[in-house]
Amino acid sequence: MRKIIHPSCAKNGCAEFENFLVWTVEKDVILQGDSLSILKTLPDKSVDLIFADPPYFMQTKGELLRVEGAKFEGVEDSWDKFESLRDYDDFSRQWLLESRRILKDSGSIWVIGSFQNIYRLGYLMQDLGFWILNDVVWTKPNPVPNFRGSRLCNAHETLIWCSKKKGTKYTFNYKTMKHLNGDKQEKSVWNLGICIGQERLKDANGKKIHSTQKPQKLLEKIILCASKEGDLVLDPFFGTGTTGAAAKRLGRHFIGIEKDEIYVAAAEMRIREVRCESSPISRGELEVKPPKISLNALLEAGLLRVGETFFTKNSESVCILCESGLLKDGVEELSLHKMAQKYKKAKCNGWDYFFIERDFKFLPVGTLRWSFPR
Ligand SMILES: C[S@@+](CC[C@H](N)C(=O)[O-])C[C@H]1O[C@@H](n2cnc3c(N)ncnc32)[C@H](O)[C@@H]1O
Repeated sequence: MRKIIHPSCAKNGCAEFENFLVWTVEKDVILQGDSLSILKTLPDKSVDLIFADPPYFMQTKGELLRVEGAKFEGVEDSWDKFESLRDYDDFSRQWLLESRRILKDSGSIWVIGSFQNIYRLGYLMQDLGFWILNDVVWTKPNPVPNFRGSRLCNAHETLIWCSKKKGTKYTFNYKTMKHLNGDKQEKSVWNLGICIGQERLKDANGKKIHSTQKPQKLLEKIILCASKEGDLVLDPFFGTGTTGAAAKRLGRHFIGIEKDEIYVAAAEMRIREVRCESSPISRGELEVKPPKISLNALLEAGLLRVGETFFTKNSESVCILCESGLLKDGVEELSLHKMAQKYKKAKCNGWDYFFIERDFKFLPVGTLRWSFPR
């Protein structure tokens, strides 16, 4: 039997919630309370993906004024305050340690921060055994200006993406990310606007509900990059529930932890309005591996013909298919991959390198594998 928190208990502040025993992990819930204690109640290796947008410990003192003298609503919230850097490190170490325990071996974690805290978090993460996969720079085309002109306008934040430990097999939807990037390999610099306009949650007086609500597009990109449909995403600093909204839209489950009841209420209302929009991209259809089939099998199934011409991407005819299932270019007979390697002058996958002609269109040879009768 595994010990986890029962959400209704946590919400009601039940003193005995840590001893509450249930069989399964509750999904699609917001647990109101302190992450440091609630994380301890979640079972080992139970979530697929963690996104954490913790306090940054911005250490802004007093009011930040716009040039015209109006007050800027920066992060002056009590939840962002710590006594010292040491206190901040202790807090960070605790939630990171628990997050690592809760993360499945096949899972990964994304932590966002800025110059004030990201170096401390990265150091701690490495020390705790996480394996850094990337640091992603989120650049903002519409950053908040540096009102005093005392230093550069800070126009980016950094996300550290880690697997649980070196060598684990984690989810990375490479082809999906490439497709979303105009069929070019996705890079570690993402340009996305900050959360403004309709998306920004406001109260009845038109005041922002949360000072650091993240853009949903950022969360959707992370979820599409590093999770599968139906996976469970944990956010230990849920705020207005951006992670939950993105997860629900993309057909994933979520657990959010947030201590402020106003944010919890806003997140609940927001997520209730979200509908799941399932699509081939959200279902990860680009990641499905084609069946393992040889050129011979395609020949036998009548999907390829003996003597059929194989072309490069630029419609240059290179070689023809022999009855043996090898390719012949006038010089030698080679296997699919060896022939591709010869022309590419580098190791490559022949299924993607060579094209065939069907109905006046060129198709990668590999696509024929999907038509193989199973
Ligand atoms: C940077 S904000 C997250 C904003 C969120 N990503 C969003 O898009 O709305 C950090 C959040 O963590 C919450 N928080 C801070 N310390 C916490 C703790 N110990 N336990 C639970 N929540 C905490 C704060 O109330 C705040 O809402």
